[in-house]
Amino acid sequence: MIFFRKRSSNPLIRTDFHSHLIPGIDDGAKDMAHSLELIKELYALGYRKLITTPHIKSGQFDNTAAIIRQGLDELRGEFVKNGIDIHIEAAAEYYYDKTFLQAIREDNLLHINRHVLFEFSYMTPPIDLEETIYELKVREYIPVLAHPERYLYFHSKLDRYEYLKLLGIRFQINLNSLVGYYSKPVEHVAKYLSQKGYVDFVGSDTHHAKHIDSLQKVLKSSELDMLLKNNKILNDTLIEGLK
Ligand SMILES: [Fe+2]
Repeated sequence: MIFFRKRSSNPLIRTDFHSHLIPGIDDGAKDMAHSLELIKELYALGYRKLITTPHIKSGQFDNTAAIIRQGLDELRGEFVKNGIDIHIEAAAEYYYDKTFLQAIREDNLLHINRHVLFEFSYMTPPIDLEETIYELKVREYIPVLAHPERYLYFHSKLDRYEYLKLLGIRFQINLNSLVGYYSKPVEHVAKYLSQKGYVDFVGSDTHHAKHIDSLQKVLKSSELDMLLKNNKILNDTLIEGLK
């Protein structure tokens, strides 16, 4: 007999890998108050370590490592003032474009323990992927694809996921995908990746309060139980010394 636990918080995944919490630099938290509100909500859900990942996308979110580090410092300062006891680090969510390729070649990437989070276009499949992954790996970076379940052009070619894994790409799925937050097809593919054991990391991809509302549902779901049963989730290995 299988017993599904009912959870009001999240004792199993305490590190979030993927969010947009640095105020005012992308399409996530709008200002400091919004940012602190979202972070308090994530704390209430059981998260104790956050790896926030602002967009870096040429022409739309022209963020740099310096901008992101400054935002992180300001956020940490507010944690002290407001007595928020949560550990936060920053990396980035790189869009697969020329800026990303240049940062790889200059060996100037924001990463967490060598893990580099990147996303593809939602409209067109990536070109020259093998070469890019080679360039990352030769510099000892570990490529992590953000929300692989959200690229619709892979949905009719599920063997592409196996190919991406064979290239050495790790997968970060969005927890909210598991309960249909984005769409039914995205939910279906997230569950497929979960069943195949292809998921290495999970993320909240928090931009606003609606993501948190949905996460409350995910954390009590049988879909999360199945994910944790079928996959070795590495989130809590990203930052050492988790209490
Ligand atoms: Fe994101």
